[in-house]
Amino acid sequence: MKRVALLISGGGSNMLALVRDMAGDHPARPVLVLSNDPMAGGLAKAAALGVPTAAVDHRPFGRDRAAFEAELLKPLLAAEPDIICLAGFMRILTPGFIRRFEGRMLNIHPSLLPKYPGLHTHQRALDAGDTEAGCTVHEVTAELDAGPLLGQARVPVLPGDTADALAARVLVEEHRLYPAVLRRFAAGDRTPVLLP
Ligand code: GAR
Repeated sequence: MKRVALLISGGGSNMLALVRDMAGDHPARPVLVLSNDPMAGGLAKAAALGVPTAAVDHRPFGRDRAAFEAELLKPLLAAEPDIICLAGFMRILTPGFIRRFEGRMLNIHPSLLPKYPGLHTHQRALDAGDTEAGCTVHEVTAELDAGPLLGQARVPVLPGDTADALAARVLVEEHRLYPAVLRRFAAGDRTPVLLP
């Protein structure tokens, strides 16, 4: 059974989709939900499902990412994860941190990468006049939002869409895609999951 740690910053809806899926014949189980924000809504939701939680507030560390990560590593290493899922984790990690978990850290990003790495993905897709949008799960490498593709799901952009409307449509697909990718990845299969 693979041990999975999930890193969140907010509501944690992707984390919940992953945790709920890790049952029965799933090859992995959640061992920790960790946040950089002690007030992140996802922490209470994870605790309610019986998953251990921890938080390391990034703010006291200012720009010192290495010092923040040294604290983040403590609960993370104590949980002995085989796989780390970034699930709405909104801090950039240093190459040194990423290297430790190379090949076993996943991220979900709300665009069809390589389009729109970074922030404001839905507004950027609308501004570009794209007819489709979506989300990507990829392996985390030192370059932001650029590691090997593990899965992608597409949705149409509809007339009159706002960034919020598009984000909501994409989020539904995120909740299908990420669990499907994690199941496959935890079983040792890196073949990309392509939805629908
Ligand atoms: C999700 O849409 C996820 O793709 C995005 O943040 C949201 C988190 O929602 N992640 C990024 O933008 C990463 N750069 P959630 O907390 O409800 O899962």
